[in-house]
Amino acid sequence: MATVKVQVIFYSMYGHIWRMAEAVTEGARSVEGAEVGLFQVAELVPPDALQKSGAAAARAAFAHIPTATPHQLADADALIFGTPTRFGNMAAQMRNFLDQTGGLWVKGALVGKVGSVFASTGTQHGGQETTITSFHTTLLHLGMIIVGVPYSEPRLTNMNEITGGTPYGATTLAGSDNKRLPSDNELAIARFQGRHVAEIARALVRGRQAAG
Ligand SMILES: Cc1cc2nc3c(=O)[nH]c(=O)nc-3n(C[C@H](O)[C@H](O)[C@H](O)COP(=O)(O)O)c2cc1C
Repeated sequence: MATVKVQVIFYSMYGHIWRMAEAVTEGARSVEGAEVGLFQVAELVPPDALQKSGAAAARAAFAHIPTATPHQLADADALIFGTPTRFGNMAAQMRNFLDQTGGLWVKGALVGKVGSVFASTGTQHGGQETTITSFHTTLLHLGMIIVGVPYSEPRLTNMNEITGGTPYGATTLAGSDNKRLPSDNELAIARFQGRHVAEIARALVRGRQAAG
């Protein structure tokens, strides 16, 4: 039986956050006793608009990942959300998903669960931190315990290259043409985040079990 249940839930238009989500999932799965599920949220953009922007082809690469339903969140001990930035905030697709958690909020169904966020931007200073920290507001309303990426992950201080990675959560830079792929440094931070969240959630679960 799983000791700790983790769900990684993302939205991605061009595949960067999907790649980061796979790395977060890998990190979480490295924790003994962790049962980890990877899900995406529903698309809202009309198919013809996705076709014109090139997003349809990019999204085909991860079409096999199941779509999350809001009520499944109640089953997790930890939830790790990934979103590209839109004007310094989360994408509307993720906002739409979270706005369907009112029923869970009323019941306090997510209170005491671990919550964590990772993100991507087109540009270096395009709002990675604001996307993550503004996302935290919603998680706090839902009663979640926020976990980021501590500086015990040394790649956060890597100054030898252009890289994402923040104490608030893993990040990647897509480039203004969306052609840059997540770097090894960024993927390693994402794996760290998955592992770190799963370890903390496992400790909480065990502590609560011991306390009866
Ligand atoms: C409507 C819109 C708004 C965006 N706003 C920003 C922004 O504020 N800052 C930024 O750096 N990139 C911005 N971007 C670029 C996206 O964040 C980028 O395409 C995304 O991080 C790539 O991740 P994905 O491949 O997972 O979709 C925006 C893109 C769109 C379509």
